Amino acid sequence: MDTSALRQAPFGSVLTETMAIAWFRDGNWSPERLEPTAPLPIHPAAHALHYSSSCFEGFKAYRRADGGVHLFRVDRHIERMRESARLLVLPEPDAAQLARMVLSLVDRCRGDVPDAPGALYLRPVLFGTVPNVGAAGTPTPEACLVVLASPVWDYFAGGLKPLRISVELSSRTAPHLGMVKTGGNYAAALGPTLAARREHRADQVLFCPEGKVQETGAANFLLIRGQHILTRGLDSTFLHGVTRDSALTLARHLGYEVSERVFDVEETLRWIAEGEAVLSGTAAVLAGVGTLIHQGREFRVGTGDVGPHTKALRAALIAIQRGESPDTFGWLTPV
Ligand SMILES: Cc1ncc(COP(=O)(O)O)c(C=O)c1O
Repeated sequence: MDTSALRQAPFGSVLTETMAIAWFRDGNWSPERLEPTAPLPIHPAAHALHYSSSCFEGFKAYRRADGGVHLFRVDRHIERMRESARLLVLPEPDAAQLARMVLSLVDRCRGDVPDAPGALYLRPVLFGTVPNVGAAGTPTPEACLVVLASPVWDYFAGGLKPLRISVELSSRTAPHLGMVKTGGNYAAALGPTLAARREHRADQVLFCPEGKVQETGAANFLLIRGQHILTRGLDSTFLHGVTRDSALTLARHLGYEVSERVFDVEETLRWIAEGEAVLSGTAAVLAGVGTLIHQGREFRVGTGDVGPHTKALRAALIAIQRGESPDTFGWLTPV
C-alpha cells in the first residue's frame, strides 16, 4: 500500500486489500477464509438490516521499533465481542476461530501496519443474515463474521488539543444495552452529538442520565485529581472499555488510588475545578478535556489544557502498546 497520500485520510477510511470471513449456518461456523476486501451478497431481507442484529469490536496492532508487530489485549476484545453477541442473541463467535482470523489477517497485512504513532486498526463485525422480515421476535439462525483491517496514522497530528465536552442529562442507550458494542447505540448518540457540535462547538457529548455520569458517544470518562482517579463502576449502562481497564490497572500500579462508583455532574464540576478530565478509548488512547459545557455555561477543567497526569498516563500506556516499556501485564500478543 502506498501510504504517502493516505496518511491524511480520516480514521478508518482506508482498508487493507484482505479481510477474514466466516459464516454461521446449520448451527456451525464455516472454516474461516482470507478474501479480498469487497462487497458481500446480503439479502435485503437480512435480519441485521431490519432488526439490528449486529455487533462489532475495535482494537489495534502496533509495530515496534524493531519491526515486530503485536496486538494489544486482543483476548479482551474477543471476549467483549462474544458477550455482545450473547446479549443480542446472535450466534457467538468461537474465541479460538476469531483469534485465528485476526492473527492470520494481521500476518497477511503485516506490510500495512504503519510505524508508530500509527497502527493497524482491527474491526471484527458480526451480523444476522437470515432473510426473514417477520423475524423481529426470533433470533437469526444465520450470521456472517468479518474482520476488516484499517491502517491509521497519527490521530493527534494537529497536537494534543484539549476537548470541549457537552454534558447532556439523557442516556446514550437503553440501560441494558450500554455495555453492548452494537451499531444502534452509535446511531442513537449521533443526533445529540451533532446538536452539541452545532450549538456548543462540542467535540463529544457526556451522557449523564438523571445527572449520573455515564460515558461519551465513543469513549469512557475519567476524572483525576492529585493521585486519585474517579470513574463510573462497571454496570450494564455503558461500554466496558479495554483502554479504561488498562489505564486503571496501570494507574493502580503507579500508586494512584482508583475509585469506581456512581457519581454525578455536581461532583464532576467540583473535581474539575482543580483536576483533570479524560476520555479513554482505542482510537485516541487517553484524550484530555479542557472544557465542560453544562446548562449553557462553560466550566474550565483545571488550567483548560491537557493535564500532567493525563499526559503521563497516556505516555506510559502508549509505551507498553508500542513495546517500548516491558509488557508487565501480559497485554501484547506477537503476530
Ligand atoms: C461508547 C464507547 N465507550 C467506550 C469506548 C472505549 O472502549 P475501548 O477502550 O475498549 O476502545 C468505545 C470505543 O472505543 C466506545 O465506542
